[in-house]
Amino acid sequence: MAEKILILGSEGQVGTDLAATLRDKYGKDNVVCSDIKPAIDEKLDLGPYVELNVMDRAALEAVFSEHKPTMVYHLAAMLSATAEKFPRKGWDLNMEGMFSVFDACIDHKVKRVFWPSSIAVFGPNTPRINTPQNCVMDPNTIYGISKLAGERFCEYYYEKYGLDVRSIRYPGLIGWKAKPGGGTTDYAVDIFHQALIQNSYTCFLKEDTGLPMMYMDDAIKATIDITEADPSQIKIRSSYNLSGMSFDPKTLSEEIMRQRPGFTIDYEIDGRQKIAESWPTSIDDSAAKNDWNWKPDYNLETMVAEMLKQLSAMGVGS
Ligand SMILES: NC(=O)c1ccc[n+]([C@@H]2O[C@H](COP(=O)([O-])OP(=O)(O)OC[C@H]3O[C@@H](n4cnc5c(N)ncnc54)[C@H](O)[C@@H]3O)[C@@H](O)[C@H]2O)c1
Repeated sequence: MAEKILILGSEGQVGTDLAATLRDKYGKDNVVCSDIKPAIDEKLDLGPYVELNVMDRAALEAVFSEHKPTMVYHLAAMLSATAEKFPRKGWDLNMEGMFSVFDACIDHKVKRVFWPSSIAVFGPNTPRINTPQNCVMDPNTIYGISKLAGERFCEYYYEKYGLDVRSIRYPGLIGWKAKPGGGTTDYAVDIFHQALIQNSYTCFLKEDTGLPMMYMDDAIKATIDITEADPSQIKIRSSYNLSGMSFDPKTLSEEIMRQRPGFTIDYEIDGRQKIAESWPTSIDDSAAKNDWNWKPDYNLETMVAEMLKQLSAMGVGS
């Protein structure tokens, strides 16, 4: 049967890239994008778009009935830094949004669902270096708490209702097509915009705050690969550790300086530092490698080169 794909939260950082890749693969009419934001005119030519609040079960039901998706990517969420400002709203969107989507998927016999977790599921007592798949998880942000609870529900819905949910713990994601949506790792995207605009950047994290990161193309590859893997390959039904590269702001700035001489960085630390310090610096993703052949394509050097090239081509800084 031909696949019909529905992306929820398609206008964000991940959804923008994911929609483009899936539309290339499956044809634009077979990928329905949706978001709480109204449609932007120039995007309507790219394929079907529905304005939809994932918290609205009746509206969700209507969209599932009309489009009959076989695969659903549920990306709508409130990210770490924003959810710390609006904890109750963040919890409600991240949990109730997930329940309404999972329930609609069961009602409409959707074959597969992708739901992303995050490195935010780890906490201060988690081993920070090469963080194992299974270890102490004591997140202390509302975002991390909602993602850890969500992971438990992924496994629960699979065991209890047979819903085939696939999930990975995204590290900080670095892409050029869309701006980041209020996460703690946003500096690693902003830094490229400012490098091109003014050849300097003021960073909100300390220079030695190492965090796991990934270039967006790798994240999209992992997202589609895990969702399309044969069910026998998926042995972890909560969420897989996933690793691309790890660096701190100083190391990133040195690579930008190497590729863009004259670039300078200074630091003005804010509340996001505390969140970053509760997260791992590097991740052990051997289960993803073994189970569904995960392998990233980008390292620090190639990611920096690609970000500078693509943002320049978009006219940033000119
Ligand atoms: N970007 C990262 O670095 C990162 C890291 C780890 C995990 N994740 C996870 O990946 C997923 C996508 O993240 P992102 O970076 O694209 O986030 P984002 O904030 O850029 O995009 C989320 C989208 O969801 C939409 N949305 C918000 N509330 C909605 C609602 N009620 N109904 C429908 N749509 C709604 C927003 O308008 C936005 O376009 C999220 O689950 C996030 O937690 C992202």
